[in-house]
Amino acid sequence: MDSEKTAPVAEQNSNLRPDGSKKVVLSGIRSTGNLHLGNYYGALQKFVKMQDDYDSRYFIADLHALTTNPDPKALHESVKQILAEYLAAGLDPDKNILYVQSDIPEISEMYLLMNMHVGIGELMRTASFKDKARKALGITSESDEIEKEIIGNQNNNARVNAGLLTYPTLMAVDILIHHADYVPVGKDQEQHLELTRRFGRRFNSFYGVDYFHEPVNFNFGGEAIKVPGLDGSGKMGKSEGNCIYLIDDEKTLRKKVMRAVTDAGPTEPNSPVSQPVENLFTLMDLVSGKDTTDHFRQAYADCSIRYGDLKKQLAEDMLKVTLPIRQRILDIRDDDEYLSKIVKQGAERTREYAAKTLKEVREIMGIRKI
Ligand code: TRP
Repeated sequence: MDSEKTAPVAEQNSNLRPDGSKKVVLSGIRSTGNLHLGNYYGALQKFVKMQDDYDSRYFIADLHALTTNPDPKALHESVKQILAEYLAAGLDPDKNILYVQSDIPEISEMYLLMNMHVGIGELMRTASFKDKARKALGITSESDEIEKEIIGNQNNNARVNAGLLTYPTLMAVDILIHHADYVPVGKDQEQHLELTRRFGRRFNSFYGVDYFHEPVNFNFGGEAIKVPGLDGSGKMGKSEGNCIYLIDDEKTLRKKVMRAVTDAGPTEPNSPVSQPVENLFTLMDLVSGKDTTDHFRQAYADCSIRYGDLKKQLAEDMLKVTLPIRQRILDIRDDDEYLSKIVKQGAERTREYAAKTLKEVREIMGIRKI
């Protein structure tokens, strides 16, 4: 399936469009839970670096969060929390447009229109959908027969909702409504980005127009940063329960790091490093810098390493990154007036762009006033 191709990455040679305007950067984050170090190094830091050179627009994807039916109060709190965390991490509301997805009704309307050109088969084959559908139905096997399981499922308490299926349509609309050039996202979102390009191309070719251009992923020339978790396996992620959150207090953070998975320790010089320990080195590279990591790598190589010392150092250096951010989060998250002013301003500007696109899309599709 061509949506499994790796997304092309932008050539970083110009931040300007041919007409001289700044290229549009767009990204969003679902409002579920708090931001963690993976979000910080994987996304937020990139956003902050881009804010001077691009026309950048970031939003909180609360409609996407609805696909997993969150508790209403928790959803609302999370939107506020993430906004505060964006700001605390350094996103400047005067340099970026910051908004909440549900404040833009044009997105919902265009989502309805775009769905007319999206196949349920291609949506059902999306990796993230299969994962979430399996979860919703309580299927633990890696069965590729998920389509049959969904259609055959008669249990109304374990349904796979249609919003989950059309998640990629909504995401495509988020991007296309801005005519975004760059979409900085992690690897797990590349398939969605590929679908976005496909839907845009399909729209163009169906109506014989050259309306949407193809957005591409963005990273600063180098490899995408991978932030591992503390449980010895894969990456840091909310659903994995292996996170350091920006909002963690000192005690919580230290406890988490001290409990991080390691191994029995090297018994012979220059032994290969196991995954859990390599993960701690990777985290240390991010928060402490290479010199510190080299010191511990050396200690590992000559078997003098004490994981307790490694963890203490790691916690110390993580706190240097997170505590100032935590303080800023606490300072602003209850300042409703400030937060609402920012998203109001963000919504006004976004709705101008969105209304223009929606109007044009409606016209192209033949929805015109009688
Ligand atoms: N699906 C993204 C995630 O889970 C969030 C998202 C929604 C997004 N719409 C977007 C990201 C548009 C970039 C552009 O992380």
